[in-house]
Amino acid sequence: MMMHAAVGLWVLSAVIYVGSVALVNEANEFSFRLYRQFAAHADSKGENIVFCPICVSTALAALSVGAQGETHRQLFSGLGFNSSLLTQTDMDQAFQTFLQRANNPSQEDASNGTAVFVDNRFKLKLEFLQTLKQSYFTDVFNVDFTNATESADTINKYVEGKTNGKIDQLVENLDPNTVMYLISYIYYKGKWATQFDPELTEEDYFNVDENTKVKVLMMNLEDSFYTYRDNVLNATVLQLPFTSSYSMLLMLPDVMETLENAIGPHRVTKWLQWMKPRRLDVYIPKFSIKTSYNLNNVLSKMGMTDMFGERANLRGISEEQGLAVSKVVHQATLDVDEAGATAAVATGMDIELLGFVAPTPVLMFSRPFMVIIIERNMEEILFLGKIINPTI
Ligand SMILES: *[C@@H]1O[C@H](CO)[C@@H](O)[C@H](O)[C@H]1NC(C)=O
Ligand SMILES: *[C@@H]1O[C@H](CO)[C@@H](O)[C@H](O)[C@H]1NC(C)=O
Ligand SMILES: *[C@@H]1O[C@H](CO)[C@@H](O)[C@H](O)[C@H]1NC(C)=O
Ligand SMILES: *[C@@H]1O[C@H](CO)[C@@H](O)[C@H](O)[C@H]1NC(C)=O
Repeated sequence: MMMHAAVGLWVLSAVIYVGSVALVNEANEFSFRLYRQFAAHADSKGENIVFCPICVSTALAALSVGAQGETHRQLFSGLGFNSSLLTQTDMDQAFQTFLQRANNPSQEDASNGTAVFVDNRFKLKLEFLQTLKQSYFTDVFNVDFTNATESADTINKYVEGKTNGKIDQLVENLDPNTVMYLISYIYYKGKWATQFDPELTEEDYFNVDENTKVKVLMMNLEDSFYTYRDNVLNATVLQLPFTSSYSMLLMLPDVMETLENAIGPHRVTKWLQWMKPRRLDVYIPKFSIKTSYNLNNVLSKMGMTDMFGERANLRGISEEQGLAVSKVVHQATLDVDEAGATAAVATGMDIELLGFVAPTPVLMFSRPFMVIIIERNMEEILFLGKIINPTI
């Protein structure tokens, strides 16, 4: 039935916040390589960047279960792994560990997973399905891709449910040759260990660039914060811990390019070691950012080219000839407010101490900055972004 058509396979990552892998260093290297691709991309000039590296790598790792030959090698090295040192089974186990790691028993709200939607008439190899189910906890569904509207709707509803409604239009139109759709998703909602008082949130200006100011709602909190001034990269780093073992790091550079070009996992490790508590009067804009990417170009530039074309070797997925990836899309949302990294309500009362108090230094995120959500013990980078304009 599908003998003539080049068979389309879509890989998709819906995410919100991320989780990570046991091979944390490689995974974090991948995060920053991917970040630099986004930052260099002409389209991203003047745009915010928000994405979930581990969600992209989970989808690519799941695909590589069914990839062979050069296609497999490219996926492996694209992810930062050396295929002569690490086998596919090692990688499957690393992802299994990441995906099943015990959930934090706090009020944190998190989920992650993968799914494949398979056309009724398309037969997958048993080993491929078994590995996906065992190591990637993949949900498998049969759909009728000849009805593009209905199958896109089925996928969108699934992702919407898994991300608490945050990502509801992952699929816009399906390629008519689609026989399988692979998804990975992560949802994370964290509450600040110390919440901002909504009463202190006020309208203020954010300087997008020398000539552009936008009005934002600026949150304010005076407290003791772990902070570090990096005098090599000329950036100030602030840590905002959640009630879990996760934190958000906010980096306010003097010059964005200096930070962007030099940031990497080792730098982040040093910041975490060198941060000291200090009393600060901190101002951070509230924002709610949604991004949507087509990753075909980005992944090709990172050396993962064969999976997209006629050279694709995905014979571990099915015996069918001509299986290739047609599109990789990625959507992310990041909401920051007084309560945490998603919407919620909090009230507080600020009791001022009037008198002869030395002024607290002010740290105001009123110009473009970078954010990372990181797990502090494993130093897994869950989420990476650059906020240029909190209002778009
Ligand atoms: C992969 O590992 C082998 C064996 O240690 C080494 O010879 C090779 O240079 C490595 N390749 C890359 C790209 O690092
Ligand atoms: C991923 O989901 C599983 C259960 O579905 C959960 O046990 C695990 O803690 C989650 N991992 C992260 C990093 O959120
Ligand atoms: C596709 O599915 C929808 C919903 O089930 C149905 O209303 C529609 O008639 C179907 N279209 C085709 C071409 O089968
Ligand atoms: C950091 O700032 C100092 C002082 O203004 C300057 O001399 C130095 O070149 C800057 N470093 C970088 C990497 O831009």
